Parts: sequence; C-alpha cells; structure tokens
Amino acid sequence: MPINVWDYLREYDELRDEILAAVDRVFRSGRLVLGQEGIKFEREMAAYLGVGDGVGVNSGTDAIYIALAALGVKAGDEVITVPNTAVPTVSAIQTLGAIPVFVDVRDDDFLMDVDQVEAAITPRTTVIIPVHLYGQCVDLDPLMAVARKHGLKVMEDCAQSLGALYKNRPSGSIGHAASFSFYPTKVLGAYGDGGILLSDDAEVVRLARSLRFYGMETQYYSERHGYNSRLDEVQAAILSLKLPRLDGWIERRRAIAARYNKALAGSGLALPRENAHSRHNYYVYVVEHETDRDGVLERLAKRDIHCNVSYRWPIHIMRGTADLGYREGQFPVAERKAKRVFSLPMYPHLTDEEVETVIDVLKDVV
Ligand SMILES: Cc1ncc(COP(=O)(O)O)c(C=O)c1O
Repeated sequence: MPINVWDYLREYDELRDEILAAVDRVFRSGRLVLGQEGIKFEREMAAYLGVGDGVGVNSGTDAIYIALAALGVKAGDEVITVPNTAVPTVSAIQTLGAIPVFVDVRDDDFLMDVDQVEAAITPRTTVIIPVHLYGQCVDLDPLMAVARKHGLKVMEDCAQSLGALYKNRPSGSIGHAASFSFYPTKVLGAYGDGGILLSDDAEVVRLARSLRFYGMETQYYSERHGYNSRLDEVQAAILSLKLPRLDGWIERRRAIAARYNKALAGSGLALPRENAHSRHNYYVYVVEHETDRDGVLERLAKRDIHCNVSYRWPIHIMRGTADLGYREGQFPVAERKAKRVFSLPMYPHLTDEEVETVIDVLKDVV
C-alpha cells in the first residue's frame, strides 16, 4: 500500500454518517448560501480563537484579499510579506492592485525574519502579512511593535496554522485581522474550498461582510466595489462537525512529529524545530536534505512513500511575479531552503505502523 503525504479517505470513513446527515440537513433546509450553518460556524470559529467575529468566504485566498481590503489596502499600497509562502498570499495582494514587498526568512524556523521588516517599510506600506508557515507562528510580539511604531496593520496568514499557539495565544488572535483556509489538506479541511477571515475590529468585520457580497449591505444596492465570495452552507455544516475534533487531531499530529523527531535524529536530515514561543500544529512536517533532496524523493517514491515539496520555488523568482523586479540572490535563505525541503507523510489517520515504515525506509534511502 502506498503511503501518501496526505489522505482524507480514512477520515471520511470515520465521519461519513455525520457528514452525509449534515449535507442532507442543508439540502432540506431550503437555504444553500448565507444561511444559519454559515453564521453558526463563523461564531464557533470566533469562539475557538477568542476573536470578535468571523466572515466565511470561498477560500483562504479570498480571505486574504477581503481582509486586506477591509483593513483599507488599495491599489498602489505596499504590503510586506515573505517570498517562501504559498503563491496565494502574494496573488491576493496583487488582486487589489497592491504591491508585494518581500523580506527574507530566518534560517532556523523558515519564518519571516522580523528584524528585516523595518528596513522594508516605505511611506506606501500599509499592511504586514506574517505567514505562519507549516503550522508554526512568526515571532509576533516584535512584529506588532514595529507595526505600532509605524502605524501599520498586521494581517496574519493562518492558512496553515489553525490551532497553533503563540505564547499560549491562538494563531490568528493577535494581528488586526487573520485569514484561514479550509482547503481539504489543511488541519481543518472542507470537502471542497472554503476560508474565513476574523477580526476583533467590528468595522473590519462589517466591511468584509459587505465585500464578500458584491459590496452590498442592503440587497441589490452596492455601497462599494465588492466581490462574490461566500462559504457555502454545506461546507460550513461539515466544518462545524469537524471543529470539535481539531484539538485531538493536532495532538495526534504532534505525537507523529515527536516520533519522527526521535527516530530521525542523526539520520542526516535537518529536522523541524519548534520555537519556544510557539506550539506547532504540524500541518506539515518539513525536513531538509542538504545535497540530494530530489534523489531522496525519487528513492522514496520507488518504495511507495510519497512526500511533497512546499515550496520548490520562492515566489520572487517565479515568472508570474517577474513584474515585481526581484532577482535571484536577493533572499538567500528562502532560496537555499527551497532547494532542500520536503515534507513527510503527516495526517491524523496515519497509523503507527505506517509512521514506522516511513522512518525505516527514509533512514535506508538517506
Ligand atoms: C500560506 C497560505 N496562504 C494562503 C493559502 C490559500 O488558501 P486557499 O487554497 O484556500 O485559497 C494557502 C493554501 O493554499 C496557504 O498555504
């Protein structure tokens, strides 16, 4: 049997009756979009994170640009983030006609190097997006201090970090707004696309509700340029029944990570490090091979162990962002890591036996 980096079918086997009952409830309710399921789930997420309120949208990407727009970002503004993130962090900024400005990441945790942020601020900067990549939080206290000093907003990209903690505070509860993705592979995955943004600021929430609904506050009357992006009732109902299980699933991910940490120490791979300030959710378990990442991946695949690389190319050197004018060599840490990283199989329904197989084969091929 192949061991894949991620799989949802065992989860579906476990939850099938509940999921189908929820889908049936929605279909029979007579309301498929913007109904009670969505409202309920927005409240549950806000309560889980201890944040004022949430606005369900169609994806994590939409959550980013709608949150940015609600925070006041407009065309020509500069938004500071990192080049080693998922493409959508950057494309969401560009959707608004704003300009992504990159700072490099740290060598130890692969997260935004907060010490570089101040030098990247210009009079056009309005927002900073820390990306809590892989499920671990950027060092937010110094970042919030820089933002305060310069009158900027912080929008946390929590697509990968739901359930992670920063100094015992939930990821997504510290910045001025936060965006989450429910893409199926995420720690809380929908059965399709989905996303949410949250904020303690009632005005940001009010604007976001309008922006996701063609800019309307009253039906058929637009107050501002808006979009169509709503978390549909079916996905909200499924996410609601999964949310109470999330902490248990994260515990299981952490147990698998602890086993990998122990068994792979000294194997020649660099292992992920959990920061003292952060509780990792192990959305992905990312290791580094210094010289032959692709060879290792090939040998693993031959033995039916399928890993993933997130991400093979830093965004500043992609053709899709050539217009930003960056060149190779500008963000050496991100560039070096992109050549070395890969993620091991990691999801809560992975069995102990499969984890041991991954470890044995990996040690062998490395
Ligand atoms: C860091 C990051 N930001 C944003 C997104 C976008 O989320 P979605 O795929 O739901 O649009 C993702 C997921 O792909 C992500 O990993």
